[in-house]
Amino acid sequence: MYDLAIIGLGYVGLPLGLQFAQNGCKVAGLDVDAAKVQSIMAGKSYIHHIESSRIAEEVQAGRLTASTDFSEIKKSSAVVICVPTPLGKNREPDISYIIKTGEMIAKHLQRGTLVVLESTTYPGTTDEDLAGILEAGSGLKAGTDFHLAFSPEREDPGNPDSKVARIPKVVGGLTPACLKRATELYSRAIERIVPVSSCRAAEATKLLENIFRSVNIALVNELKVVYEAMGIDVWEIIEAAKTKPFGYMPFYPGPGLGGHCIPIDPFYLTWKAREYGQSTRFIELAGEINTSMPRHVIHKLAAALNEDGKPLKASRILLVGLAYKSNVDDDRESPGYVLLDMMKAAGAEVAYFDPYVPVIRPSREHSHWAGIKSVSWDQKTVSSFDAALICTAHANVNHQQLLDWSRLVIDSRNATNGLSGNARIVKA
Ligand SMILES: NC(=O)c1ccc[n+]([C@@H]2O[C@H](COP(=O)([O-])OP(=O)(O)OC[C@H]3O[C@@H](n4cnc5c(N)ncnc54)[C@H](O)[C@@H]3O)[C@@H](O)[C@H]2O)c1
Repeated sequence: MYDLAIIGLGYVGLPLGLQFAQNGCKVAGLDVDAAKVQSIMAGKSYIHHIESSRIAEEVQAGRLTASTDFSEIKKSSAVVICVPTPLGKNREPDISYIIKTGEMIAKHLQRGTLVVLESTTYPGTTDEDLAGILEAGSGLKAGTDFHLAFSPEREDPGNPDSKVARIPKVVGGLTPACLKRATELYSRAIERIVPVSSCRAAEATKLLENIFRSVNIALVNELKVVYEAMGIDVWEIIEAAKTKPFGYMPFYPGPGLGGHCIPIDPFYLTWKAREYGQSTRFIELAGEINTSMPRHVIHKLAAALNEDGKPLKASRILLVGLAYKSNVDDDRESPGYVLLDMMKAAGAEVAYFDPYVPVIRPSREHSHWAGIKSVSWDQKTVSSFDAALICTAHANVNHQQLLDWSRLVIDSRNATNGLSGNARIVKA
């Protein structure tokens, strides 16, 4: 018997499973990706910030197993779903992974099991969509025969102080009994549980958190462009503003949004709001500003090359940092790909350097770059480019060397702040 099964062993599911296992729970990890399952059973990590030794220890102790066999659900008193929730081609929510997973669970669902959805999604997914699928496939009734809840994941990838156990967990249940069951489950691994009135309230909480980030990032992105026109450096202004001990929280501009959450989740609400005749103007405007940022950066690059008497066409450009965020190996939705696409479309010769992304893996969004490898980090290679474009500033990249070895550096992250070298620096 397992205390819980976790479905989807990615950036969310694997650390969560490890946390439960470390707290003495018996965890069955389930995934459709056989390579991930094999890797876990071999005690090997496939996520940079998770050490293999943590996985090996839990597998050897018999607290964590991984499988592609969904009938393991029959042996689990709880099932936690951590599958992807991307956007479709027309930026509409794609909850097909949740639906498929729900259908798989329903086949094996036992009376009295607790099912919790963790994937970020619009309010109503758990009590409308998932409940219906589980009921239809199992013949059981949600809230009566089995318990159902929603609890959003809160991850801060790349932050070494962010520990699953210490991040408060919001939980909403279909019924008070569902909430009680879910609270009991999470209390076994997480220090503080924050109960809310319903699954919808928990779903809406997650969206508020991510929309808040998207809107505030858009605000500083807009101010970056406005202040730049006035000859003011927005990064200096943010450093000064953040000394205010109340009523201000720093957000930083960049070359565009990235990752699996901030560029995507707000549009789950936009889509659902239409059903209620509501518009989401803040979300749309923030999306518009954030998606215009790569264009701004490319414009600055082209203008800087022009000053050197070079067109972007046929220039050799090195993109530095391809992961969407500093110090992580996650390149999903990275603005780096938009920048590479735009430079290539303009006829530039492009390459990238990222110690966290040695080779570009195949993916739905940027399969045309799959197989391309990071260039090596040495003076001969780096100095062979007409310009370097800093897209993501990893702590283990030597930006001083970049300035020493390059002619022109376009810095969209303020990574060269306080440094100087041979290169002309253009903030973007
Ligand atoms: N990554 C983050 O920082 C983060 C933070 C908060 C919330 N979330 C949300 O959590 C959810 C999962 O995100 P993630 O980053 O872990 O994604 P991920 O792509 O890293 O992992 C998802 C896993 O689910 C597996 N999977 C897909 N379909 C499946 C199926 N039918 N059955 C079983 N497994 C299946 C995939 O193989 C993969 O291993 C998303 O809704 C995301 O928005 C992510």
